[in-house]
Amino acid sequence: MKALITSGGKGTRLRPITHTSNKHLIPIANKPMIHFAIEAVAEAGIKDVGIVYNPDTGDEIKKALGNGGQWGINITYILQEAPLGLAHVVKVAQDFIGNDSFVFYLGDNVVVGGIRRFIEDFSKQKSNCHLVLSKVKDPERFGVPEIKGKKIVGVEEKPKKPKSQYAVTGIYLYDPSIFEAVNSIKPSQRGELEISDAHHYLIKKGYKLGYSEITGWWKDTGKPEDLLEANRLTLDRVIGDDEPVLRGKVDADSDIAGKVIIEKGAQIIKSNIRGPVIIGENTIIENSYIGPFTSIYYDCYIKNSEVEYSIILEKCKIVDVDVRIERSLLGREAEIVKCNSKPRTQKFIIGDQSIVELV
Ligand code: DAU
Repeated sequence: MKALITSGGKGTRLRPITHTSNKHLIPIANKPMIHFAIEAVAEAGIKDVGIVYNPDTGDEIKKALGNGGQWGINITYILQEAPLGLAHVVKVAQDFIGNDSFVFYLGDNVVVGGIRRFIEDFSKQKSNCHLVLSKVKDPERFGVPEIKGKKIVGVEEKPKKPKSQYAVTGIYLYDPSIFEAVNSIKPSQRGELEISDAHHYLIKKGYKLGYSEITGWWKDTGKPEDLLEANRLTLDRVIGDDEPVLRGKVDADSDIAGKVIIEKGAQIIKSNIRGPVIIGENTIIENSYIGPFTSIYYDCYIKNSEVEYSIILEKCKIVDVDVRIERSLLGREAEIVKCNSKPRTQKFIIGDQSIVELV
């Protein structure tokens, strides 16, 4: 069995971060999100992994993931000239997959508990295509199955009137019959070759579709709120211990409580940290409060400020900010600092599609 992981697409809902960086490298609990997909397939014992990339951000992905040696897998990079849809991703990977069965895993999905169970269900049910479903409040955002009895009888992409409460998540298992589907369907109204249309095609042609349900949590990190939520759930889970893990320095005037990781070279000075929190390498926190569900990446500097339920990327600076920063996502090298010179005005240098909410 092989695996195919996406790393392309437009990332429009995560702008401005995705103007300058590939969405799949945004960290969740201080780990690039695509690592979660790679770890899941590696943990399931899959060695041959294809990563599909688009030309604009492919180099960044290749540099970040290398040949896969660190996970004990072999990565083959597969070019998709433009993001023309998920069925198109499968289409461009046909030579790589050959006659094997494979897991297709969307690199922006984060799921708890690995994928072994789904691979086992796929083998047991001997289906041509196996979908992993999750019950959601807003199925209209996703591919939605229509289920009759215990059978999937149809799949629609982002329907206005969903026929079930389920989302088809970004984990799919296929035998090579999927190639007949992706080579037969036509682009949708938004101009993409939709994976849901490929699934619908298989059903109509009488192929066997099976499914499993995710019982824990699953997140498609399409929007900033989803990222913050995935970060919350991941922090809570990955920092297993209630005892703080202190690889950096914490001075005697600081107070650390709950699930906290302080990475190598980080310094906590006269500050309060309330977990779950992860502080990246060489980050300095001084005279500040860092509250639950916050991930601060490496080389940041936070002084005289309060941050909670946020993701702060590398090399950010937050200094002398009087109000608590919450539910925020700061891109690389972003700065929020108090103006100490006259005139004391609000001053912004903001990239395209940034969002600032003032009190
Ligand atoms: O997350 C689950 C959902 O993923 C499913 O419920 C939907 O049926 C499925 O169409 C997909 O919907 P999204 O709108 O979330 O897909 P998105 O465009 O965000 O792309 C998902 C991943 O695939 C992401 O890693 C980007 C990558 N991608 C996307 C396209 C369209 C590519 O690499 N190439 C592409 O052409």
